[in-house]
Amino acid sequence: MLRSLTGEDFAAARAVADDWFGRPVGLTMHRLFFEQLGASGVHAAPRGEPGRLAGVLLGLCSENDPGLAYIHFHMVDPAMRGRGVGRALYAAFGERMHARGCTRVRALAAPTNGGSLRFHEALGFTGTFRSQYVGPGQDRIVFERPLPLGPA
Ligand SMILES: CC(C)(COP(=O)(O)OP(=O)(O)OC[C@H]1O[C@@H](n2cnc3c(N)ncnc32)[C@H](O)[C@@H]1OP(=O)(O)O)[C@@H](O)C(=O)NCCC(=O)NCCS
Repeated sequence: MLRSLTGEDFAAARAVADDWFGRPVGLTMHRLFFEQLGASGVHAAPRGEPGRLAGVLLGLCSENDPGLAYIHFHMVDPAMRGRGVGRALYAAFGERMHARGCTRVRALAAPTNGGSLRFHEALGFTGTFRSQYVGPGQDRIVFERPLPLGPA
């Protein structure tokens, strides 16, 4: 079950973020993505359990580059990985952003996050290595692909 985010989703997502990632990332899960940009984000819940968080995607349509949809953060409950929840979050976001006029989508991954690298490759993204992209010692792979999603 997929829907947009609201400010009320922040607490539940923030509470599990560090655990679901396996490292402290919760401070990057800014409340503004729920309260001010929630209409662009995606909340996933298991069918028949709307109150249980299965995954979340925080994203936006770029103001400086209106053709670009940008994914800031996404995660899936470890107990529900490998079942297409991550792909469904991206599909819902991509569909919504394409309807708003975006023609491509971008997301970042740390070069050490093998699961995320494989995930983006499976979804047809092309990655470019960028040294110190988010700060000293913080390299990133910048992934991008055209919208709509679908076959690469
Ligand atoms: C990355 C993440 C969101 C993937 O979610 P998921 O629900 O397990 O992904 P899906 O089941 O939708 O998988 C989609 C595709 O990616 C592939 N994939 C996903 N995780 C993978 C992994 N760890 N290794 C290899 N392939 C993987 C799947 O095989 C699938 O490919 P297919 O459709 O061709 O079979 C999830 O592992 C996660 O939350 N990780 C921790 C948080 C994180 O790293 N977020 C990304 C930050 S950049």
